[in-house]
Amino acid sequence: METFTKIEAKNFCAYYNNKIALKNINIKIYSNKITAIIGPSGCGKSTFLRSLNRMNDLIENFSTSGELLVDNVNIYAKDTDIISLRKKVGMVFQKPNPFPKSIFENIAYGLRIHKMFKNYDELYMKVENSLKEAALWDEVKDDLNKSAFDLSGGQQQRLCIARALVIKPEIILMDEPTASLDPISTAKIEELIRKLKEHYTIVIVTHNMQQAARVSDYSTFFMQGEMIEYDETTKIFTAPSNKLTEE
Ligand SMILES: Nc1ncnc2c1ncn2[C@@H]1O[C@H](COP(=O)(O)OP(=O)(O)O)[C@@H](O)[C@H]1O
Ligand SMILES: [Mg+2]
Repeated sequence: METFTKIEAKNFCAYYNNKIALKNINIKIYSNKITAIIGPSGCGKSTFLRSLNRMNDLIENFSTSGELLVDNVNIYAKDTDIISLRKKVGMVFQKPNPFPKSIFENIAYGLRIHKMFKNYDELYMKVENSLKEAALWDEVKDDLNKSAFDLSGGQQQRLCIARALVIKPEIILMDEPTASLDPISTAKIEELIRKLKEHYTIVIVTHNMQQAARVSDYSTFFMQGEMIEYDETTKIFTAPSNKLTEE
């Protein structure tokens, strides 16, 4: 499959209360690849991830400089349509956060908001397809009207992935998506992530080095707001060019 630059940061900086959290990030992230962001706590991984769909806009005194391009368009330009940006760039969080609704309505919600169906049959079909895509359908097909909170943690996280997928994003951001899960649920999610790259560009934050090695094509190592290293994951994990990464 042909790959191209889906996301590009050009001297991108981010600040909270004028204190710098990301320093001159320059990176090209490729389509249909899984890119892992690794690095110690507080190094700016989440700040970078959340900058990619302008989630940080919700934080008072957050500001940026430089450029962050998605499909060659600077998403921090004044005329950016935030709603369509967030439709294109979906997000999955560390703790599964289903809505207090039924399994079916968790998925149907985005389709209703974006008016993405004409009749009930189409709505049902899209809910079913996204639950299948998130490898959850077989486990929930008889319980669609049950509360999402009745699911296990791992199932809830796959539900949140299905909820992100149903509105047809192009990029999926995941911030430590398995941090709260047991090893078996984690393995299921990792397998799912590997499958999803066929159709999506995935950027995943993880503080688990083994996870980065297992799932990602590219890895970038952040430290104190700076991008220290970026390369194919196999290279980063066998022969890092920077002493800090090696350590
Ligand atoms: N809402 C916020 N207000 C002020 N400072 C913040 C906020 N969120 C993060 N920071 C600071 O920005 C830096 C990077 O944080 P973060 O991106 O959350 O790191 P990571 O995800 O790598 O642990 C840290 O120094 C953190 O204290
Ligand atoms: Mg974080």
